[in-house]
Amino acid sequence: MTILGTALGMVFYLLQVVSGESGYAQNGDFEDAELDDYSFSCYSQLEVDGPQHLLSCAFEDPDVNSTNLEFEICEGLLEVKCLNFSKLQETYFIKTKKFLLIGDSTICVKLGGKHITCQKMNIVKRVKPEAPFDVKVIYREEANEFVVTFNTSHLQKKYVKDLLHEVVYRLEKNENDWMHVNISSTKLTLLQRKLQPNAMYEIKVRSIPNTNYFEGFWSEWSPSSHFRTPENNSELSLLYGLVSLTIRRLWNNCARNQKR
Ligand SMILES: *[C@@H]1O[C@H](CO)[C@@H](O)[C@H](O)[C@H]1NC(C)=O
Ligand SMILES: *[C@@H]1O[C@H](CO)[C@@H](O)[C@H](O)[C@H]1NC(C)=O
Ligand SMILES: *[C@@H]1O[C@H](CO)[C@@H](O)[C@H](O)[C@H]1NC(C)=O
Ligand SMILES: *[C@@H]1O[C@H](CO)[C@@H](O)[C@H](O)[C@H]1NC(C)=O
Ligand SMILES: *[C@@H]1O[C@H](CO)[C@@H](O)[C@H](O)[C@H]1NC(C)=O
Repeated sequence: MTILGTALGMVFYLLQVVSGESGYAQNGDFEDAELDDYSFSCYSQLEVDGPQHLLSCAFEDPDVNSTNLEFEICEGLLEVKCLNFSKLQETYFIKTKKFLLIGDSTICVKLGGKHITCQKMNIVKRVKPEAPFDVKVIYREEANEFVVTFNTSHLQKKYVKDLLHEVVYRLEKNENDWMHVNISSTKLTLLQRKLQPNAMYEIKVRSIPNTNYFEGFWSEWSPSSHFRTPENNSELSLLYGLVSLTIRRLWNNCARNQKR
């Protein structure tokens, strides 16, 4: 009992030392100076640079003093047992061709070579696609519709090819009233009669993996695109079309008659 008690006491003491070293206590608020929370999250981007994959991890608590902390990934790798992460500001990343893309890996936070915390994760279940781009909206007057197209680098990839895209659009003056549409292709038609006439719209797209094997998170949003709807609703513009057609016919007849 006493040995166990002493052991627990020592563990507690050591934990406090680690916590103190991490600089948490330096903000002077000793009530908050408990154990640092070293939980972290990671996402992968496959074939992001030719055949190279990217894995990025960051602490969930942005205030963690990461000065002496390192990240390491083991298992689920080709040829090597473990790889070290590089660090850029508060993000740890690794760019490599050596992910097996089958089974779990273990990712650990290390301080002075010792593991502080580890997580098992499967890289293919944490895919964050690259943001779509080149969102274009073309008005097809004869069909009274808008054709929305966009591009994604995933069309050119071997692994994560199937994505679900979320297209959202809103009237620019109705700031938070987004309409949502999910599609798996990169083309969408919006009916003119479902939109307000003579209004400015904003539209953007993001993507998420859509297969059983590759899973993960939403991409960042694509850059926004803007389009304006014509002034008249379809009936009026139909009328307008008829009138202008009639006028043109009359004009042509008139011109022909004058030539004679
Ligand atoms: C972070 O920790 C290092 C040593 O581990 C220390 O030198 C540095 O001052 C700390 N930074 C902050 C902002 O607490
Ligand atoms: C990873 O970093 C550790 C130091 O934390 C070093 O001992 C080890 O050799 C490195 N491994 C690789 C594969 O670079
Ligand atoms: C999509 O972008 C790629 C470059 O990333 C380009 O090669 C391709 O032609 C584009 N596709 C379309 C339909 O614009
Ligand atoms: C689109 O798909 C996402 C993810 O599956 C889902 O959360 C969302 O509710 C869907 N939205 C619509 C409008 O169907
Ligand atoms: C809209 O309709 C009005 C008449 O209803 C017409 O004067 C105007 O030119 C039309 N505008 C467009 C953009 O078609």
